[in-house]
Amino acid sequence: MAGVEISDAMRRIAAGKLPGVPIHVADMRDFDLGERFDVITCLCFSIAYTRGEDELGRVAASIARHLNPGGVVVVEPWWFPERFLDGFVTGSVVEDDGRVVSRVSHSVRDGRTTRMTVRFTIADRSGIREFTEQEVLSLFTEAEYASAFAHAGLRVEHLAGPPNGRGLFVGVRD
Ligand SMILES: C[S@@+](CC[C@H](N)C(=O)[O-])C[C@H]1O[C@@H](n2cnc3c(N)ncnc32)[C@H](O)[C@@H]1O
Repeated sequence: MAGVEISDAMRRIAAGKLPGVPIHVADMRDFDLGERFDVITCLCFSIAYTRGEDELGRVAASIARHLNPGGVVVVEPWWFPERFLDGFVTGSVVEDDGRVVSRVSHSVRDGRTTRMTVRFTIADRSGIREFTEQEVLSLFTEAEYASAFAHAGLRVEHLAGPPNGRGLFVGVRD
């Protein structure tokens, strides 16, 4: 088992949750771990941080390069353009070990991307602080995902619905 993450801070969190599993700081658009796997997953719309079909194709090729023949790929996309709700808001609160964190987000469409503003408020014994993140996610069409996977030699179908409403691309390397 192994993982790939471009941010060292996120890599450290993943490594802490998966003792003994190598988590590499690497770019999904162009990584080479020098080994192949039977299953590769790319969940939580991480693939939509790429820009344009060229980058999408590079991710698909990187995945295919790391799969054994007959190996399985599972990718959770971001929304297809026709399903994205402009102005969507959501939020959640978690409480753990004397700390409360709230997260609210507002997402707008900007051409073929989603611009998501995410505001976090953190309260603990030391007080309350907040910060805001801006996320930009590509609105690839189902056909663009399918084409990228097909060009990489991955026979993939889109299963609509779970786990988060956007469905999953599930397939096999030829
Ligand atoms: C929505 S988060 C998912 C976090 C975590 N991997 C998970 O599945 O719960 C997307 C993650 O993709 C990472 N990421 C974005 N672009 C990347 C790239 N080109 N290569 C590798 N990781 C990337 C971000 O740093 C972020 O941690």
